[in-house]
Amino acid sequence: MQGVIDGVTYEIPNHVAVIMDGNGRWAKKRLMPRGFGHRQGGKALEQACEDIWHLGVKYFTVYAFSTENWKRSVEEVTGIMNILRNYLKTAAERCNRENMRMRVIGDRHVLDEDIQSEIHRVEEATKQNTGLQFTVAINYGGRDEIRRAMASIAKEVEEGKLSSADISDEVIAKHLDTWELPDPDLLIRTSGEERISNFLLWQLAYAEFYFTDVLWPDFDRDCFIDAIKYYNSRDRRYGGVKDAKQSSKK
Ligand code: FPP
Repeated sequence: MQGVIDGVTYEIPNHVAVIMDGNGRWAKKRLMPRGFGHRQGGKALEQACEDIWHLGVKYFTVYAFSTENWKRSVEEVTGIMNILRNYLKTAAERCNRENMRMRVIGDRHVLDEDIQSEIHRVEEATKQNTGLQFTVAINYGGRDEIRRAMASIAKEVEEGKLSSADISDEVIAKHLDTWELPDPDLLIRTSGEERISNFLLWQLAYAEFYFTDVLWPDFDRDCFIDAIKYYNSRDRRYGGVKDAKQSSKK
């Protein structure tokens, strides 16, 4: 879909995914504890939801806590979980005001019970909303998600509900946590790292990747516009060749 930003027409990615990296370094530069950076990262995220919707993006998915992040100190993990707790307390009200729908992906069953029930409450309270489709990945790992999808498909095969010949890309996609979402068109990773770190491994197959040195707490509307400009400079071919006269698709 096309959109006009500051008087210029751009192709707007339908689904933007972000690896919000650099909170710790942002805090360190200010001689502050890492938790301060995560709190600022949470504020940047709230602003990002507003900005990205006004830029014309429909789906926005962020990596808040990975299956590997449990390796961090108890203090840091508790801090991130408390930011999440506080965020969830007011999320339903905020989302409903903005017509925003919130979903959570990842294995939530190991999260504290109060967080699990808040997640459920927000998802239920916002499920009718047709504005920004906002998804937060918590205790999420792409391999873990694929493993859980495979186990669920295998169970359906065992129960005779599915035959192995039925296992298509579509069937796999429908068993992933993101079953309701289109694949991302653009992945942004902040803070200079150029890896996908186990994020949306299946779903990013044809996404464009935008890496920037900006640390997540500093990533603002202008940074999103730079990412959209970069996206517009790319030539997406999905494995084909531009201007092919005839496709030999089987
Ligand atoms: C990566 O930066 C960031 C995280 C692992 C946590 C992201 C969490 C938030 C932004 C909190 C808000 C979440 C919600 C849903 C309200 P890093 O710590 O790896 O930074 P570094 O690489 O500079 O150390």
